[in-house]
Amino acid sequence: MSSLVVIGTQWGDEGKGKIVDLLAGEADVVVRFQGGNNAGHTLVVNGKKFVFHLIPSGILYQRVRCLIGNGVVVDPKILIEELDRLSGVGIHVGPERLGLCEKAHLIMPYHSLLDRAREERKGRSALGTTGRGIGPCYEDKVARKGIRVSDLMDGKLFKEKLYQNIEEKNFLLKNYFGLDPLDPEGIYEEYIGFARRLEPYVTNVSWELAEAYTKGKRVLFEGAQGTHLDVDHGTYPFVTSSNPVSGSVGTGAGFAPNRIGHVLGIVKAYTTRVGGGPFFTELKDEIGDYLQEKGQEFGSTTGRRRRCGWLDLVLVRDAVRFSGIDSLAITKLDVLTGLSELKICIGYRIKDREIPYRPSSQRDMEATEPIYLTLSGWYEDIRDTKSFEDLPLNTKVYIRTIEEYSGVPVSIISVGPEREQTILLKEVYGRQH
Ligand code: GDP
Ligand code: IMO
Ligand code: MG
Repeated sequence: MSSLVVIGTQWGDEGKGKIVDLLAGEADVVVRFQGGNNAGHTLVVNGKKFVFHLIPSGILYQRVRCLIGNGVVVDPKILIEELDRLSGVGIHVGPERLGLCEKAHLIMPYHSLLDRAREERKGRSALGTTGRGIGPCYEDKVARKGIRVSDLMDGKLFKEKLYQNIEEKNFLLKNYFGLDPLDPEGIYEEYIGFARRLEPYVTNVSWELAEAYTKGKRVLFEGAQGTHLDVDHGTYPFVTSSNPVSGSVGTGAGFAPNRIGHVLGIVKAYTTRVGGGPFFTELKDEIGDYLQEKGQEFGSTTGRRRRCGWLDLVLVRDAVRFSGIDSLAITKLDVLTGLSELKICIGYRIKDREIPYRPSSQRDMEATEPIYLTLSGWYEDIRDTKSFEDLPLNTKVYIRTIEEYSGVPVSIISVGPEREQTILLKEVYGRQH
């Protein structure tokens, strides 16, 4: 079988959804392995737009099986809403099309309440989270207090765990945040309703993947967020609470890393970031506004305006190193059309010192200045271009510069949100095992 891992190389929203949807056409199984409904993956198919937060972006193909791995934190209400929204447009997703890992942790109402209360309390130093309860849910998982899908399916155990958790959370909500306590009975009833609905979907993802492996099937792993939001390797503390790197398919889906065939890094042709935190190439001028407007850079989950800036290849090079990226997909290249000059960050300076990777300490990140390479832009409309050869010369130079400084080849170029607006340069499904 062959397997492919798709991950974001920047701060999320690189266009992973579009690329996963495209590649899912040749996959048998599509798997989410980390993050939760903080993700917002947009697919545009025949002019119709779909945004998925939890359901893998392979769901539009009837023959593809979609799996939500153990490493994902699952808000059951959101999952059910997504299933219902798909039903509403005539796409019925039964248990034969979607599996939910029994080991995945559940986002509970107190997680999102605590997430938002903490952000509010932080005031100006808030992280700018999506407020979906992601951090508090992962905290409980690591603290061994979490409630898993399998617990929800066992009414008695679920009740016990819920009441234990609520006792502690209500103390915090009431005494630390000055909020109303939660009623465990109401939550119990609501969640038991979710359990009835989701029970047929429950599976063991690691086992299913091993079965698929022996049957020679193609597996596509769909990363969420981006490398520099990684809780270990990202711009801490301005990060999410999971590891959006390729190694997470091992922990988050129970799939052995040495069975990964190819790692595809998604790179937006410029850089964006939603929420707070360092952003070395940020443009707070009319070019930043141009990218924001032309690229329609609004968060798919929260609707917030995304901050925009020049392409930062130090971020991409770091991502290549962390995840063993084999090739890159460049997205939203069409958005750069019409700019006379383009800058690409190829290194950092901290005072009089140059460093070839992203610094980690908050003090160094604050002092980091980008070192730019300046290239000429292009004015030709590239949205219908079908081959690399037909791209304008300056566009080709831009792509070759990305390859040169990242050290890996570009395999896919995206020039618009639709499936057809894609130039395929290289096979990405990788080695067969
Ligand atoms: P994800 O979180 O990485 O899946 O990315 P999002 O879906 O949050 O944001 C990417 C946005 O860019 C979506 O609205 C996509 O429809 C859109 N998009 C993806 N690729 C392209 C492209 O090549 N050109 C343009 N103009 N838009 C694109
Ligand atoms: P996709 O999969 C962009 C950001 C939030 C915030 C930080 C922490 O669509 O690329 P969290 O709610 O995770 O605790 O918020 O992480 N963030 C994302 N930014 N794309 C995402 O997902 C993101 N998921 C989380 O904006 O800065
Ligand atoms: Mg997104």
